[in-house]
Amino acid sequence: MTTTRTDLTPASAGLPSEQQLLAWAAELCGDELGAPPAAASAPGTDWEQIATDVLRDEAAAASPAGASSASSAASSAFSAPSEAYSPTLVSAAKAAETSSDAESKAKSLPRTTQATIGSIPVDKVRADFPILQERLGSGRQLVWFDNGATTQRLKQVVDRISHYYLHENSNVHRGAHELAARSTDAYENARSTVAKFLGAGSAKDIVFVRGTTEGINLVAQSYVRPLLKPGDEIIVSLLEHHANIVPWQMIAAATGAKIRVIPVDADGQLNLAEYMKLFNSRTKFVSVTHVSNVLGTVTPVAELVSIAHAFGVRILIDGAQSVAHIPVNVTALDPDFYVFSGHKIFGPNGIGAVYGKSDALNEAQPYQGGGNMIADVTFERTIYQGPPNKFEAGTGSIADAVGLGAALEYLMQIGMTNVAAYEHELTRYGMKRLAAVPGLHLIGTAPDKSGVLSFVLDNHDIVSVGKYLDGQGIAVRAGHHCAQPILRHYGLEGTVRPVLAMYNTPEEIDLLAEALTRLVG
Ligand SMILES: Cc1ncc(COP(=O)(O)O)c(C=O)c1O
Repeated sequence: MTTTRTDLTPASAGLPSEQQLLAWAAELCGDELGAPPAAASAPGTDWEQIATDVLRDEAAAASPAGASSASSAASSAFSAPSEAYSPTLVSAAKAAETSSDAESKAKSLPRTTQATIGSIPVDKVRADFPILQERLGSGRQLVWFDNGATTQRLKQVVDRISHYYLHENSNVHRGAHELAARSTDAYENARSTVAKFLGAGSAKDIVFVRGTTEGINLVAQSYVRPLLKPGDEIIVSLLEHHANIVPWQMIAAATGAKIRVIPVDADGQLNLAEYMKLFNSRTKFVSVTHVSNVLGTVTPVAELVSIAHAFGVRILIDGAQSVAHIPVNVTALDPDFYVFSGHKIFGPNGIGAVYGKSDALNEAQPYQGGGNMIADVTFERTIYQGPPNKFEAGTGSIADAVGLGAALEYLMQIGMTNVAAYEHELTRYGMKRLAAVPGLHLIGTAPDKSGVLSFVLDNHDIVSVGKYLDGQGIAVRAGHHCAQPILRHYGLEGTVRPVLAMYNTPEEIDLLAEALTRLVG
């Protein structure tokens, strides 16, 4: 069974009455529908039952005590995820190393590592990123830790784009000539690769966009905005990047809807009990990040999805910071939409993708019109193509889509489970090394955390730390990371933010920790 309403027309999807919601929740809990799908539920947690209780309480104008009993059921049913990976990091012994020879070591180039991703040496992967051998003005070899902002590009991606322009360049879906066929094949093959990488059922569920930001705006304008009436609500979380806040504020301002916010606990994990309490009959959509770009928190997506669906509400997952770091399978996780950017997964700038369930994409109305997305046009009316074409008005970034396909093929060869395992150990190592720097405070310590190692340093402003590290050849981000609400929650206006990717090494983490130790004296 699916917990998502698939029987809604665009008109009725947006305007469920209180009675309808109650009927759906009761129906979802009906014996004949059985248990929720295993992949989307925490074991032993009957989210539909909890949803029904909350909706029933609300309809009966229940007291606050009623609501809290439902949420405490959710909280007691949820326990922090246990560690998923436990591979051996070959050079973890580096943890014991002192920083006495750091300065000379920083200049002994090129650097190598014994670390492996699965059975593949990290040095072999690094060789596919020529920029990692770059020497900076200081004579030092680049250490790239600004992966949260953008990743470095694979040589295979650059070569594929070059091949496209040298041998395949044409517009797609038009033209009777051979290059149009080559170009269309390359573009559509890339779409199939994205679908395969995400575990989507069909390439038709993949829409090419410029990136995560455009993807969220597309879903907001095309799917959610037509659903909204004054007083309706959209749930986001305190962890969100501005790209997953502002588009919702824009459509809320235009329609009279409101934004509700899931709080976080002290470690920076979303509070599922409070999430449950935010739902009511006015809730029309949920949009939550998979990984926080400030704290690294990996959110409990399966539970977030399962709970939203129990209330008959669709959910978008912002995959900007997860897609290059942990395996994503949209069929197992079951979100209605999942969005990501190519440049954060070793692919080109200006390209990304929206995965959408086919019924949701069918319901959505295009918010940009023009060529490529139409089946027929007269001055009286236009008939659109079906998804995904109806959302791809005009000429897209064809070569970049093809380049993105090359990046994803590369990752599928390495295996995202291997990438996640390696980065998990690297993250643990990085947290241990940074925590040992006197006066350094890690921001974001959720048990389930990706390689975002945000920190602040006593008596040092973040910009001067960023500049000092730059002088050491180490590129980090120092600033608000386009996520001011979560930073202000911690009383901060910014952090220094190294973010790990698969080509980073324990030796690079040593350089970072040693440089910071020198800085604090
Ligand atoms: C969590 C998150 N969402 C969305 C975005 C926006 O991505 P883009 O600028 O590629 O559209 C970012 C970028 O850093 C991000 O970290």
